[in-house]
Amino acid sequence: MISSLLRYAIAFTALAMLIGANAEEGELLIELPAPTYDSGVSLEEAILSRRSVRSFTADSLAPADLAQLLWACQGVTSPNGYRAAPSAGALYPLELYVVIGRVKDLTPGLYHYRPGRDIGSHSIEMVHSDVTLQDVAEAALGQKCITDAACCLIVTGVVERTRVKYGKRARQYVLLEAGHAGQNVCLQAQSLELGAVTVGAFHDDRVRALLGVEHLPLYLLPVGHPHSAGR
Ligand SMILES: Cc1cc2nc3c(=O)[nH]c(=O)nc-3n(C[C@H](O)[C@H](O)[C@H](O)COP(=O)(O)O)c2cc1C
Repeated sequence: MISSLLRYAIAFTALAMLIGANAEEGELLIELPAPTYDSGVSLEEAILSRRSVRSFTADSLAPADLAQLLWACQGVTSPNGYRAAPSAGALYPLELYVVIGRVKDLTPGLYHYRPGRDIGSHSIEMVHSDVTLQDVAEAALGQKCITDAACCLIVTGVVERTRVKYGKRARQYVLLEAGHAGQNVCLQAQSLELGAVTVGAFHDDRVRALLGVEHLPLYLLPVGHPHSAGR
């Protein structure tokens, strides 16, 4: 416990120096770099060239790349708080986590993504420093693409949020939303010359136990620098 807190403090201090940090409602948030909108890869090129990538180099991701991936998945794109992926009734039932293995200046561990109030503003908060990519892989039938990735996004759903308005349709809507969010990550990874794969084969209860929440785990998205031969 003490070592977790110490690692959290070190991670926070290092990144706060690099990219700025805010304390909100008693929580320490790590503010992420704002997204950029000029990758130079057209949408059509990204759709055309996207393939599932399961083999990654040992290179780390840049914090800006992590920020861009998280933003593409669930970041804010409108002054109304609307997000990068469509959501039934704009109820936003998805909660996004990321397990970091190798991202420059960030301590490995499990983080929760916090979309901000303004377009492109966003942050992450550490949940546990002792959750590893190996743990996630073990919850997903030992898939090596997760162990080898630089990080793994975990898309979860809080179905009750959507059920308030859509009743029995809620679960179906939340699953559809995870698909939108996952595709955004794949295309964003492609435009950053990163590799990603959408992983649906995992044990819900084991992923839940890692996250420490009762949300419905929907998608794992390991991302890293691709081995070109692995494509
Ligand atoms: C819902 C869903 C679940 C998937 N689960 C896995 C998985 O657990 N492991 C994996 O390696 N790929 C998984 N994939 C990726 C598919 O195998 C891949 O999309 C397919 O082979 C087509 O290749 P492409 O993505 O390169 O077009 C999944 C894809 C979808 C849509």
